Amino acid sequence: MSGPVVPQHARELAQAARRVLVLSGAGMSAESGVPTFRDAQTGLWHRYDPAELATPQAWARDPGLVWAWYEWRRSLVAACQPNAGHRALAEWARIAEMSVVTQNVDDLHERAGSAVVVHLHGSLFAHRCDSCGAPVELPVPDQAEISGRLAPPVCVHCTGRIRPGVVWFGEALPAGALDEAMTQIEASDLVMVVGTSGMVHPAAALPGLAVSAGVPVVEINPNPTGLPADVHWPVTAAVGLPALVDQLG
Ligand code: APR
Repeated sequence: MSGPVVPQHARELAQAARRVLVLSGAGMSAESGVPTFRDAQTGLWHRYDPAELATPQAWARDPGLVWAWYEWRRSLVAACQPNAGHRALAEWARIAEMSVVTQNVDDLHERAGSAVVVHLHGSLFAHRCDSCGAPVELPVPDQAEISGRLAPPVCVHCTGRIRPGVVWFGEALPAGALDEAMTQIEASDLVMVVGTSGMVHPAAALPGLAVSAGVPVVEINPNPTGLPADVHWPVTAAVGLPALVDQLG
């Protein structure tokens, strides 16, 4: 089956690009089976609103519930595989310099071989102590063992509570994350915006900053988002990116 027709302008921009920056969102991982953040919650978690769980208030109020939710998400991501879109980006990085700035908290770009320079919203795999900040490596839990609540581990250094390494609503982005994203935009000659609704700031402002900086922007998203771009290509990540990379010779 032949892939989609690649818009000529997108192909020309990609063929000319020597330094590509990818700004990715949840849609990048959708075809890997990772639900986008605004997808309906499934199963055990269907009665909870993610935005209610991803907050410092929820963590303070019910750490066992929040910890179980993130461990469930981590076990789900660990069972998923990078999709053809992740792999196409890793392939593209063999013929052009490529950096990835992602809003995703999964590790699928890394597992496909991409260099992720910024996780704007942290990572499910970057736990740390809530008191002393010490980073913690934890084995992936067995999804079947995750019930409604799990006691978060205790820090071996200070007996504080270990928290998910993600950025909660109301929390600041990781120090330097936005500056690094801007540096990457200004150093690029093409920005690919893939699979983000552009609903969450400050990440949502990045495509506009690229356009203001005169860097061409190509958006890949099956749905309209209103994000500024030179090319809006209504395809999915796992279909569009391989088709585009195939044109790069
Ligand atoms: N390929 C490309 N794009 C897709 C695909 C796909 N297969 N499937 C869905 N999309 C698009 C949707 O059209 C939507 O625009 O991906 C976008 C997903 O939007 P959100 O779920 O809002 O995800 P995102 O933009 O990454 O959310 C930003 O908000 O919820 C917080 O911290 C969370 O990082 C997240 C941030």
